[in-house]
Amino acid sequence: ALVDKGEHRHFMAKEIHEQPEVVGHTISAYLDPVARRVTLPEGGLDFGRIDKLTLSACGTAYYAGLIAKYWFETYAKLPVEADIASELRYRDVPYMPGGAALFVSQSGETADTLAALKDAKAAGQQTCAVVNVPESTMAREADAIYPTHAGPEIGVASTKAFTCQLATLACLAIGAGVARGVLSREEEERLVGALLEVPRHLAEALAMDEALRDLAHEMSGARDVLYLGRGVSFPLAMEGALKLKEISYIHAEGYAAGELKHGPIALIDEAVPVIVLAPKDALFEKTVSNMQEVMARGGKCCLISDEAGLAEAARGGELWGRVPVPSLPEGRLTGLLAPLIYAVPVQLLAYHAAVAKGTDVDQPRNLAKSVTVE
Ligand code: G6P
Repeated sequence: ALVDKGEHRHFMAKEIHEQPEVVGHTISAYLDPVARRVTLPEGGLDFGRIDKLTLSACGTAYYAGLIAKYWFETYAKLPVEADIASELRYRDVPYMPGGAALFVSQSGETADTLAALKDAKAAGQQTCAVVNVPESTMAREADAIYPTHAGPEIGVASTKAFTCQLATLACLAIGAGVARGVLSREEEERLVGALLEVPRHLAEALAMDEALRDLAHEMSGARDVLYLGRGVSFPLAMEGALKLKEISYIHAEGYAAGELKHGPIALIDEAVPVIVLAPKDALFEKTVSNMQEVMARGGKCCLISDEAGLAEAARGGELWGRVPVPSLPEGRLTGLLAPLIYAVPVQLLAYHAAVAKGTDVDQPRNLAKSVTVE
């Protein structure tokens, strides 16, 4: 084999720890660190001329796409529709002239994503693919490709490919904002400057590996786990739940924090750990107030936030778990960086829970790395 686990027990652990490096590579393919500008490859989408983006993928890649939907809306004011590929391909999508369709896939071979790409192309959309395998079928079929530079991913549960997809999509959203005249030169510089710090924040976040183990061990005894988030943290909550399901076989759900009261709050008791993703962005207070609703009903909550966020939330009562994440620059920049950085504790929690349960972390039952049949 060309790839080995190095000092790690599993490929998944190795791939989680590679993230500062591979996200760094990916970012450098799309940013000029000296000029602090986005440098999108020639022959890509002309974002200045697109009036709608349809975004599609499966599994983890879909959650990367959903996070990017928020970014394209915020930084490029571009209308985005996102759907899982197995639905999109069978919908009667009224594709309009002037639209483009973007597909995200680690392998570039997932059958549903490929079929959705071919449909969009046949319907006259400009197509592009964010893929980790540049010689894949999707890369060949799409009008343009934006490679991620994660290197080979062996663990079935996607980790470094996900953060590299996010890094690429963040650059695309900023590039689109510039092309559409939405972002000024100063704003571009600020956003690019913030992205350049991502590898450093990732390395800092990885330092919590050991500290998360006890919490994950405790969580591994649960039958169900809820993940909550708002805004960009909502798709990440779903990704967190997916990671946990995939490798530890614990039932988990990712929910929009504000939707909790419309159903899942009925599940709350002391046996259901609730993982709350609350970066200090504009929605922090809202998320924390949802967490307090859970705590008031006897739910045990684990808050993932920075030290300031943890201190603020502590006033609301005793937390079951506290996961401090490096603090990020304020405001709009937090929304850009948080999904990349908060992905680390989410991955580590799932990883350690699976190790505690003794499952086959790299080759979970019933799952395939690449699903090339429908
Ligand atoms: C499989 C894998 C997932 C992955 C999904 C999409 O289900 O187990 O980890 O997210 O396929 O794969 P792709 O290669 O298209 O990103």
